[in-house]
Amino acid sequence: MTLPPATTAPLTVLGLETSCDETAAAVVRLTPGEGAPNPQVQVLSSVVLSQTAEHAPYGGVVPEIAARAHVETIDAIAAQALAEAGVTPGGLDAIAATAGPGLVGGVMVGLSFGKAMALALGRPLIAVNHLEGHAVSARLTADLPYPFLLLLVSGGHCQLLEVAGVGASRRLGSTIDDAAGEAFDKIGGALGLPYPAGPALEQLARGGDASRFPLPRALLGREGCDFSFSGLKTAAARIAARLASEADRRDLAAAVQAAIARQLAERTARALDLYEAAHGGRDRRLVVAGGVAANGAVRLALQSLAEARGYVFAAPPLAYCGDNAAMIALAGAERLAVGLTDALDVVARPRWPLDEVAARQRPTHIPGRKGAKA
Ligand code: KG4
Ligand code: ZN
Repeated sequence: MTLPPATTAPLTVLGLETSCDETAAAVVRLTPGEGAPNPQVQVLSSVVLSQTAEHAPYGGVVPEIAARAHVETIDAIAAQALAEAGVTPGGLDAIAATAGPGLVGGVMVGLSFGKAMALALGRPLIAVNHLEGHAVSARLTADLPYPFLLLLVSGGHCQLLEVAGVGASRRLGSTIDDAAGEAFDKIGGALGLPYPAGPALEQLARGGDASRFPLPRALLGREGCDFSFSGLKTAAARIAARLASEADRRDLAAAVQAAIARQLAERTARALDLYEAAHGGRDRRLVVAGGVAANGAVRLALQSLAEARGYVFAAPPLAYCGDNAAMIALAGAERLAVGLTDALDVVARPRWPLDEVAARQRPTHIPGRKGAKA
């Protein structure tokens, strides 16, 4: 389902993102119309302030530290985004803020700030689902019409979604234990890498021998397209504890990265079958988004799968893989274009599955760094 645009005038939207450990603001201009050719989306600014250094000593995100850091910086980050875009507050058509899922203290900061701006400016507020932001992130730079199959892989999420249009996603599979980014972070931690360990593990894996350490292949050949990474995490941590040399660590990092990429591609191949059945072989578009989409081996595995199955492949540029506010601004602008706005009493939601029906029918528990969520 793609709703027709209620307006074709350009829409300039401020996006705010505070659901985890990045304080981000961005200004995006969308010119609605049929499809989504590239010139219709302009990222006028995208400012991301990462709190990584503040959380690093604790080996994960500390919710109280995150919320306080968002409070201290959100106004300056929003002002910087407007200044870099050359847009005054009065030039905005709407304010879009992440309203969940995520660490609720942080979500409340961005959402409250967004409500205050919307009220003061007399502009609509759009409460954006963070996952919907990741879902549209590839549309920031690519000519990518709806519908498409999305693999959303980050530190808190690992899901396969059929994205049919604005606000219309169907969940085909999700992790039954850990998210892929969490597996990268925990195994990287066991290898002595600083948090968040995903990017450092990718570096370490360069030149490593991925075949030296056999690792469990979870859910291989199993029905459906859910994921599981806890067995891999335990096995890899056990091997890591008895490694001595740098070459050993490189080989284990390469094996872990290959195992994660392989599982992501295997389960996505199954989701393609379901997607094809629903679309009669048309609309062959595969998208990977979220922080883990920055991983070269993961991108390559998904790209090879897309090519083998005759799909167009899209992934956001690295700057829009991790958490950012440009994706929130675009998700908000797409909603605004079809008349979907929110009241100022909308609440922050620690959990907010994109596909509420699937979440009720097949609840999954994700004990991620942001807590159990989607
Ligand atoms: O999307 P994101 O910034 O935040 C969440 O919404 O979770 O994703 C962060 C996750 C972390 O687990 C991080 O280790 C992982 O993405 N990540 C990577 C890479 N870059 C970020 N994992 C593997 N390889 C990378 N290059
Ligand atoms: Zn995210």
